Amino acid sequence: MSLDGDSFREIMGHFATGVAVVTTVTESGTDAGITVNSLASVSLQPPLVLWSIGRDSAWFGQFSRCLRFVVHILAEDQQTLSDRFAQVGDNLFEGLELDRSPEGIALIRGCHGSLNCRSAAQYPGGDHVILLGEVESMCTARDTRPLIYHRGGYCGLAHG
Ligand SMILES: Cc1cc2nc3c(=O)[nH]c(=O)nc-3n(C[C@H](O)[C@H](O)[C@H](O)COP(=O)(O)O)c2cc1C
Repeated sequence: MSLDGDSFREIMGHFATGVAVVTTVTESGTDAGITVNSLASVSLQPPLVLWSIGRDSAWFGQFSRCLRFVVHILAEDQQTLSDRFAQVGDNLFEGLELDRSPEGIALIRGCHGSLNCRSAAQYPGGDHVILLGEVESMCTARDTRPLIYHRGGYCGLAHG
């Protein structure tokens, strides 16, 4: 079996995932946000999650230095939000209704729920860095069906 990048992407594209937007606030007080599907739960006691960020991402500096981040789990009707935070720009938060965590991180409304995390550790992962977060608080905002990413596109659950 060949191990070129396209084949690797193709086979992993069959591993359907949910979609999340991770937000933080930079040292200079600017909001940052990125769409990710590398999210996984790691541990229940203590509650830990991980996600990874590409070293060449425009947001790498902000997230690799952050002390805290919030993971928003997207609902089926939030594809536009996923597309928005898969871009780079100064105005990604413009027009969004936001709340704030006690630490001042943007909380995006309308998601299934959010996990308020302390950055607990980082690990090298090839061209990505793996960020481990300890979940200090969380909320479920609404009971929704999930947004799903599969083979480079979005879909919803067929049933359930
Ligand atoms: C569904 C989806 C999942 C993504 N998952 C990740 C991820 O886990 N890690 C990551 O670094 N980028 C991921 N991206 C890409 C980033 O969202 C995007 O690259 C980032 O916002 C900045 O853009 P840049 O890479 O052009 O700098 C994903 C994009 C989409 C649409």
